[in-house]
Amino acid sequence: MKKLFIANWKMQLTPTEAEKLARSFVSTFKNVSNELVVCPDFLSIATLSKIFKSSAISLGAQDASAFERGAYTGEVAASDLAYLGVKYAIVGHSERRNCMEESDKLIAGKIKAVTAEKLTPVLCVGENAAERKQGKAASVIRGQLRGAFKSLPGKNLRSIVIAYEPIWAIGTGVNCDPLTAVRMKTIISDWCQRAGMKKTSILYGGSVKADNAASFLGTAGFDGLLVGGASLDAQSFKNIVNAKSN
Ligand code: PGA
Repeated sequence: MKKLFIANWKMQLTPTEAEKLARSFVSTFKNVSNELVVCPDFLSIATLSKIFKSSAISLGAQDASAFERGAYTGEVAASDLAYLGVKYAIVGHSERRNCMEESDKLIAGKIKAVTAEKLTPVLCVGENAAERKQGKAASVIRGQLRGAFKSLPGKNLRSIVIAYEPIWAIGTGVNCDPLTAVRMKTIISDWCQRAGMKKTSILYGGSVKADNAASFLGTAGFDGLLVGGASLDAQSFKNIVNAKSN
């Protein structure tokens, strides 16, 4: 089965660096049997759209506005992303929930806006360290799912990607052990099933590297990986994509 690998470059690169890395991705990934998606920052989307045009790599965005075109200073419309060939949009990443104080209501609006433009939303859910310690991880995830699909019932979605990203594992080098991740995956897939969602892919994200990637694929059953730091080098991302599932 095809797996989905999403590179989230966050705000790590200048436009020149992003262009260079995109070219390096194109030459590194010539024949791919999996689905590869690169999410640069908004400034690089137009340039990368041209670079990836006849390549095996799809383009994603790290966010999208919940609003349609209009007087919304600083926002980027999902319709413009679609026009530039963007296929996926990350929504509700924990860095946006925490640093930009994005609410479930706003995230729900973004899912609706992105879906209306036929982009596939990549909804991120995950608990923080304190919530896990207090045994609240499952209820936090269910709450985030409930909030995200408030304005658009799951059964109306064409396709959705949900990334389980425990906050304590993001950019920390601290691994979520695969058994814990699988438990959370089951909670997510049960919830999605009850919500009547048809086509759901569930990814894992948080300090993914070549040496732990395989433990989340294969028997752990994740449909792919969302990768931050280790996607900033084409060869390191390739090692993740090629990691043998166990
Ligand atoms: P990381 O980031 O791989 O650097 O932990 C993952 C993410 O935030 O999506």
